[in-house]
Amino acid sequence: MNIEWFVNGAGAVLLLYILYRITLVLFNILGPYVFFRPIDLKKKAGASWAVVTGATDGIGKSYCFELARRGFNIYLVSRTESKLVQTKKDILAKHPNVQIRYATFDFTNPSPTDYQELLSQLNEVNIGILINNVGMFFEYPDYIHQMGGGLERLADVAIVNMLPPTLLSAGILPQMIRRKAGVIVNISSATGAFKMAQWSVYSASKKYVSWLTATLRKEYGDKGILFQTITPFIVATKMAGNPNTSFFYPDSDTFAKSALNTIGNSNDTTGYIAHQLQYEMMNLMPEFLFDRAVLKTSAELKQRALKNREEKSLP
Ligand SMILES: NC(=O)c1ccc[n+]([C@@H]2O[C@H](COP(=O)([O-])OP(=O)(O)OC[C@H]3O[C@@H](n4cnc5c(N)ncnc54)[C@H](OP(=O)(O)O)[C@@H]3O)[C@@H](O)[C@H]2O)c1
Ligand SMILES: *[C@@H]1O[C@H](CO)[C@@H](O)[C@H](O)[C@H]1NC(C)=O
Ligand SMILES: *[C@@H]1O[C@H](CO)[C@@H](O)[C@H](O)[C@H]1NC(C)=O
Repeated sequence: MNIEWFVNGAGAVLLLYILYRITLVLFNILGPYVFFRPIDLKKKAGASWAVVTGATDGIGKSYCFELARRGFNIYLVSRTESKLVQTKKDILAKHPNVQIRYATFDFTNPSPTDYQELLSQLNEVNIGILINNVGMFFEYPDYIHQMGGGLERLADVAIVNMLPPTLLSAGILPQMIRRKAGVIVNISSATGAFKMAQWSVYSASKKYVSWLTATLRKEYGDKGILFQTITPFIVATKMAGNPNTSFFYPDSDTFAKSALNTIGNSNDTTGYIAHQLQYEMMNLMPEFLFDRAVLKTSAELKQRALKNREEKSLP
C-alpha cells in the first residue's frame, strides 16, 4: 500500500517536472520571438543616444542601423578610423535625421586611464542604450597550446571580451542611475553557456559576460535599468568566416532586428528564434553527443578559415 503511494507520487512528480520543462522550452522559444510585442524602447532607454562598441562590422554595425531606424542617435566605438568614417556616412545616407558621433578605441588596450578618457567623451551625450558588442575570436577553434597567434592572441581575446563590458558599464551607469532609465545589452555567445572543447578562452570569457550581466541585473534591476544578455550561435559575419546564410546562420541585419525586439521581453536569450531552437536542443542533448557536434563544427570552422586564408593569399 505504502509502496504504491510512493510509486504513484514519484510518477506524478516526474510527470509534472517533464511538463514544466516542456513548458519552459516552449516559452523560451515562442515568448520573445512569436508572442510578446516589442516594448517602447525609447521610453525604456530614457535618452536619445545609443553607444555601440565594435560598430563598424557584423552584428554591431547592424545594431547601429536598426537603432538609427528607430530614431536613436548613435555613438560608434571601434578601432579603425576609416571604417568609422565610412559607417557614419552609410548610416546618415539611410537615416539622415539622426546624429552620429564616433570614438576610436582599440579594446586590446587594457589601460584604465585610456578608458577614463573614452568615457569622458561618451558621457558628453545622454546615453539611453549601451550595446557591449565588441568581441574577439580566434582565427578558428583549436587546442589551446597550439592556438593561432599564441599567448598574445589568448591575452587579446580575454581582454577584448571581458574588459569593455565591465568598464564601460561601470562608467556609463551613473548617468543612467540619475535618470532611472537605461538599457545595457551585452553580446555574449552561446559558447558561454556550454563547455566547448577547443573554444577555451572565448567560451570562458563569454561566460564571464553572462555572469556579470546577471549580477548587475540584481544590483540595478530595481533602479529602472534593464540588463540583457544576448547569446547567439553562428551569425554570418567576418568573425564566423562569412558563411552562406541559412536557417541557422542568419545575416547580421536579420539577427540584430530580431535581437532588438527581445529587449524587455527576455533578460537572457539567444536573440534569434532558430538559435533559441538550437539552444534548447543542445540543452537537452546528452553530453557525449554535444561534444561530438562541437568537434564537427570546430573542424568545419577550421577548414573554412584555412580555405579563406588560402584564397586571400592568391593574387
Ligand atoms: N558572428 C558570430 O557567429 C557570433 C556568435 C556569437 C557571438 N558573437 C559575438 O558578437 C559580437 C560581434 O561579433 P561579429 O561577428 O559581429 O564580429 P565582426 O564582424 O568581426 O565585427 C567586430 C567589430 O568589432 C570591432 N573590433 C574588433 N576588435 C576590436 C578591437 N580590438 N578594438 C576595437 N574594435 C574592435 C571591429 O572593428 P574592425 O572592423 O576595425 O576590426 C568590428 O567593428 C562579438 O562579441 C562576438 O563574440 C558573434
Ligand atoms: C528582467 O529582470 C528584471 C530585474 O531583475 C525583472 O524585473 C524583469 O521581470 C525581468 N524580465 C523578464 C522578462 O524576465
Ligand atoms: C555558398 O554559396 C555559393 C553560391 O551559392 C556556393 O558556390 C558555395 O559553395 C557556398 N559555400 C558554402 C561554404 O556552402
